[in-house]
Amino acid sequence: MVGKTILTGVKPTGAPHIGNYIGAIRPALALAAAHEKSYLFIADYHALNAVRDPKVLREDSYQVAATWRALGLDAKRTVFYRQSDVPEIFELVTLLAAVTPKGLMDRSHAYKAAVDKNREEGRDADADINMGLYTYPLLMAADILMAQTDIVPVGKDQVQHIEFTRDMAGYFNNTFKPVFKLPECRLEKSGALLPGIDGRKMSKSYNNHIPVFMDSKMRRKLVMKIVTDSKLPTEPKNPDENIIFQLYTHFATADETETMRLAFEGGGMGYGDAKQLLFEVLERTFERPTAFYNEFMANPRLHLDDFLDFGAVHARKVARETLSAAREAVGLKPLH
Ligand code: ADP
Ligand code: TRP
Repeated sequence: MVGKTILTGVKPTGAPHIGNYIGAIRPALALAAAHEKSYLFIADYHALNAVRDPKVLREDSYQVAATWRALGLDAKRTVFYRQSDVPEIFELVTLLAAVTPKGLMDRSHAYKAAVDKNREEGRDADADINMGLYTYPLLMAADILMAQTDIVPVGKDQVQHIEFTRDMAGYFNNTFKPVFKLPECRLEKSGALLPGIDGRKMSKSYNNHIPVFMDSKMRRKLVMKIVTDSKLPTEPKNPDENIIFQLYTHFATADETETMRLAFEGGGMGYGDAKQLLFEVLERTFERPTAFYNEFMANPRLHLDDFLDFGAVHARKVARETLSAAREAVGLKPLH
């Protein structure tokens, strides 16, 4: 158990596939379990910049909560909450905004990319860019600083946001007094990249993905659709060039993996049989989580609101302490 605080946010982006599970969700759960204090939240205020349908925002947030809960997030070990249930974050945004140079926001990769796109398309530079997108790094800094975070595990695209967070914390601490801890970024290892059923990287955008949550019949059907060559069952095959085997290694035990490897190499394994074995390990891994997920989504008020409210109580506690110290530092009345 490492005595550091880690924190990360997930944007509500629909139902996960088994690539997201191996590449992002499982490592995050392991990291959370290995640290003394961990915070994980649904970045619904960030999502608001792009989502315009209240029903979609609500559904997507529940989906994220149900996903993490079904896949084993332990609310006693990890503080799991909705960003929008912690209003202290927004007050912190205002305090940080007062010491943050506008030029910092102008340098944000996400904002600059949106401006470049507009220019390329011959439109006004700021067309369709809302203040939420522009001040995205400020909100993210408040997310992180409110919990006195040591480590923020993120993907490569988020590194600049962590650097900005350190900058903002530094401006504030130097102008007033040291209130905020400067967080460090931990780059998620690129790690395993799972292929999709057509052999390209598994991705929702290629529509070649196997969802985590689905009924057994559909799961089986998708596995049977995995593309193979036309080698006969008795021909030796190179397992490392084989989608079925690559997927299998992530869900099977070491013994099971070795058995399949030897069978492929020795000409004792046809693609049909291998697909059946893959289906069985996926079933073993996801059958129960799928049942939980369906149960949670069938009654989110009962199964998810309480779960999230519980996290929010804990998140608000640390947020209030930090906010109170920041208020006091600038000359406002501390909270009581
Ligand atoms: P998609 O490409 O399906 O839209 P995202 O871009 O939303 O997936 O990815 C979310 C996270 O899931 C990424 O940060 C990455 O870590 C992980 N991930 C996505 N696809 C894969 C994959 N094929 N194999 C392993 N990890 C993946
Ligand atoms: N911006 C992050 C993303 O797009 C999500 C996020 C919001 C976040 N606030 C955060 C991540 C704070 C880490 C820490 O993935």
